[in-house]
Amino acid sequence: MALQLGDVVPDFTQESTEGRIDFHKWLGDSWGVLFSHPKNFTPVCTTELGAVSKLKKEFDKRNVKIIGLSVDGVVDHERWSNDIEETQGAKLNFPLLADADRKVSDLYGMIHPNASDTMTVRSVFIIGPDKKLKLTITYPASTGRNFDEILRVIDSLQLTAKYKVATPVNWKHGEDCIIVPAVSDVEAKGLFPKGWKPLKPYLRVTPQPNL
Ligand code: BEZ
Repeated sequence: MALQLGDVVPDFTQESTEGRIDFHKWLGDSWGVLFSHPKNFTPVCTTELGAVSKLKKEFDKRNVKIIGLSVDGVVDHERWSNDIEETQGAKLNFPLLADADRKVSDLYGMIHPNASDTMTVRSVFIIGPDKKLKLTITYPASTGRNFDEILRVIDSLQLTAKYKVATPVNWKHGEDCIIVPAVSDVEAKGLFPKGWKPLKPYLRVTPQPNL
């Protein structure tokens, strides 16, 4: 069965460009983003890996470890990383799993045979410090992902984990949040000293609590 939100993500040991990874141990107490690429030496993947390398410090700031996956071997990954640096102006600065035996791809359902039975789709898994799956998205091979959106979701997830807020449509860091319905007005008084605007009893808008 496909992985579902709230599931503890499967553990694995696999080779990578930064040596052998014991996944749960490697994650430690951090958040994690695991994402797959259809194949080495392909154009869209090359742009994505360059973009994620440039964003690495944004993931670090949020205590998020990022790790990519491609169904090719380490030597191939290392050759490809030279192309990424040359064409995208960024050196690969996070591990890329060498999943030539498809161990991880199969565990995580990254191969969708009706799309391709040899390449992975573009999967993203956001994993919490509790090792539970917080988000999954799947893009086709031909569409590069928007990693600013991944960071936006992480900001939202981390706010929800720490404060009892959700984030509205198209929310971005710095904008107002919504008090989750499970919090009563009495409880909210203690939790949200900046107050809130009750547009409806179930729609209470409050400034982002950690600013
Ligand atoms: C790409 O990364 O450019 C790509 C990979 C597989 C199919 C189509 C595009």
